[in-house]
Amino acid sequence: MATRMGTEATPAVTASGARTAASVSKHAAPSRNATTAAVGAGRWIVPAKIAVFVAALYPFARIMLFGFTDRLGANPIEFITRSTGLWTLVFICITLAVTPLRKLTGWNALLRFRRMVGLYAFFYAALHFTTYFWFDKWFDLAEIVKDIGKRPFITVGFAAFVLLIPLAVTSPKAMVRKLGRRWQTLHRAIYLIAALAILHFWWMKAGKHDLILPKIYGVIVIALLGWRLLAWARDRIRQRARS
Ligand code: HEM
Repeated sequence: MATRMGTEATPAVTASGARTAASVSKHAAPSRNATTAAVGAGRWIVPAKIAVFVAALYPFARIMLFGFTDRLGANPIEFITRSTGLWTLVFICITLAVTPLRKLTGWNALLRFRRMVGLYAFFYAALHFTTYFWFDKWFDLAEIVKDIGKRPFITVGFAAFVLLIPLAVTSPKAMVRKLGRRWQTLHRAIYLIAALAILHFWWMKAGKHDLILPKIYGVIVIALLGWRLLAWARDRIRQRARS
């Protein structure tokens, strides 16, 4: 679920944001120093990816550890549902933040982490949903369908999860190439997913009169969506001015 990954990465730019030796050589013979710098700068990407991969497993490891040491509290199902739900939202927000951060810092290497972060959002959403239909509803399909139809916060949560599935399925690079521009259009669904996730969180907490966290995440998502809208409007104006 690497939103707009393929389309935004500049081919002549390496993971670290440095130009590749190949791209440089198209225009001029690269100096030995330039080539060495590009190769050297790209070296850290694999350890960095491993570090992000391990760090993103922390919420899962914490649930496991608490489970095995009997520290999930009086209501373990609630603990797991809430923890996985919140982490799904966190990873959705990080995925959305990659492009603004990349554009603000000029650090193109950030794109190399987006697919992984997006897939982690799906991983925690799948755990969240599994906890619900397994431990909460005990695979009672009729009860689940009834619940999805009856409780609006479950309806929108379910819609967000269903929309995440095609993004996860089309995240491999081969799919990015195969779908071309359609891939980009499909992956814009992440904005709708984020909005549904906030609504899900908001409605759930509204019943408990505890809207602090939904408000914080709501502001984050609105800021990220707003940034994208402004960037889109600015590009359109520039295109028109050019033509
Ligand atoms: C992208 C999809 C989803 C996201 C981002 C998400 C996010 C969240 C969040 C942030 C919470 C509250 C955590 C807290 O209290 O701190 C939550 C709770 C919950 N979610 Fe989701 N959710 C999603 C999908 C679903 C789905 C598909 C279902 C079930 C069909 C579901 C069922 C629940 C339930 C039962 C709770 C706990 C309610 C309670 O403890 O009273 N969620 N979710």
